[in-house]
Amino acid sequence: MVIEDKFILRSKVYFNNRSIHLLKQTPGTRAFIVSDSIMETLGYLQTAVDHLREAGITSSVFTGVRPDPDIGIVSEGLKLYMESSADVLVAIGGGSAIDTAKGILYFAWKLAGNGASAFKRPLFIAIPSTSGTGSEVTDFSVITADEGKVCIVDEFIAPDIAILDSTCIQHVPRRVVADTGIDVLVHAIEAYVSSKATDFTDALAEKAVKLIFENLEKLYSDAKDSDARDRVQNASCMAGMAFTNSNLGINHSLAHAFGGMFHISHGRSNALMLGAVMEYNAELSGSAANYAADRYARLAAVLQLPARTKREGAFSFIQAVNRLKKNLGIEDNIRTLGIDWKEFENALEQMAEAAMRDRCTPTNPRQPSTEDLMQIYRKCY
Ligand SMILES: NC(=O)c1ccc[n+]([C@@H]2O[C@H](COP(=O)([O-])OP(=O)(O)OC[C@H]3O[C@@H](n4cnc5c(N)ncnc54)[C@H](O)[C@@H]3O)[C@@H](O)[C@H]2O)c1
Ligand SMILES: [Zn+2]
Repeated sequence: MVIEDKFILRSKVYFNNRSIHLLKQTPGTRAFIVSDSIMETLGYLQTAVDHLREAGITSSVFTGVRPDPDIGIVSEGLKLYMESSADVLVAIGGGSAIDTAKGILYFAWKLAGNGASAFKRPLFIAIPSTSGTGSEVTDFSVITADEGKVCIVDEFIAPDIAILDSTCIQHVPRRVVADTGIDVLVHAIEAYVSSKATDFTDALAEKAVKLIFENLEKLYSDAKDSDARDRVQNASCMAGMAFTNSNLGINHSLAHAFGGMFHISHGRSNALMLGAVMEYNAELSGSAANYAADRYARLAAVLQLPARTKREGAFSFIQAVNRLKKNLGIEDNIRTLGIDWKEFENALEQMAEAAMRDRCTPTNPRQPSTEDLMQIYRKCY
């Protein structure tokens, strides 16, 4: 019997703003902590080490994570992880740190070869410091390899415990608040229009969209707004829960290839694709019924935007997203980022082919050709 419709969530989620203290109750003897130098400087790493010590756990630390981690960083961490004999794996940082820990876990498991079933999986705890990727609850890890960004997708790498302690995100730079916040919105929108969307993922995606529209601008303009911070963090986790079950779409495929090629952050790359991708999916210039347009119209209704028809609803939603991006200081197009047209044009075909192969493309509501993807890139320029 093949059972296809399912909603799976491996991670227990704790979301109190002092929940990092829960590390004091961690079962185990040795922890391997994956993080970066900023988390070390801000003192979060030491807090984690201290709390684990209270649980009787000694820690070894890997702070070699850099944004958009590549396979070299994962290998470096993997070597240290293997030497550590850890029974607890802790990731503390943004999506880059959590994805590196997932990569380490994945390759340690695979290296066990045919004995993989005997592999002793560590307790995996993720503490996100951005809101964000939702990586604390997803099956996804995005790693940069020679051929660009590669998604590893496996239930095995989803964290067992997600600790959402919003005190860990209070020093996020403004630009990162904007980028990561828009990433949350794109996760929710793509999960909502995905061909694998269900009532379960819809509920989470709708709530995430609402929370982002109500709180992201507040957080962007006042980093001290702790209520907005909590809400955006919850939205990030909810959008992660949605897309780990429904998958994403071509917005992410295009952003992976573009961000990898021009070294633009994941969130900003997604933001730059968003308007053109929604217009492509909704086929607004036509008049035939369109699934994605109907779904965007439903999101417009969630936000109580004006609309007499579904098509108007879709249009209102796209406009509201564009307004939000503008208010977050996000560029209108790729040209404004200072990327030269000739350089962009030369990379177009390679990026479109990579986006076509991306794991997020098959669940997009409208199946594109490589030429369609090139056309979307041109529009974003
Ligand atoms: N696994 C998934 O499900 C998933 C989903 C989307 C994106 N991703 C991947 O995640 C990565 C992006 O993660 P991200 O957007 O969270 O950014 P990030 O982890 O790369 O962090 C961005 C920058 O912000 C800094 N930073 C992080 N937390 C901070 C804090 N609390 N205070 C001050 N500075 C802080 C980091 O040191 C870094 O310089 C990309 O590689 C992307 O492809 C993964
Ligand atoms: Zn994303």
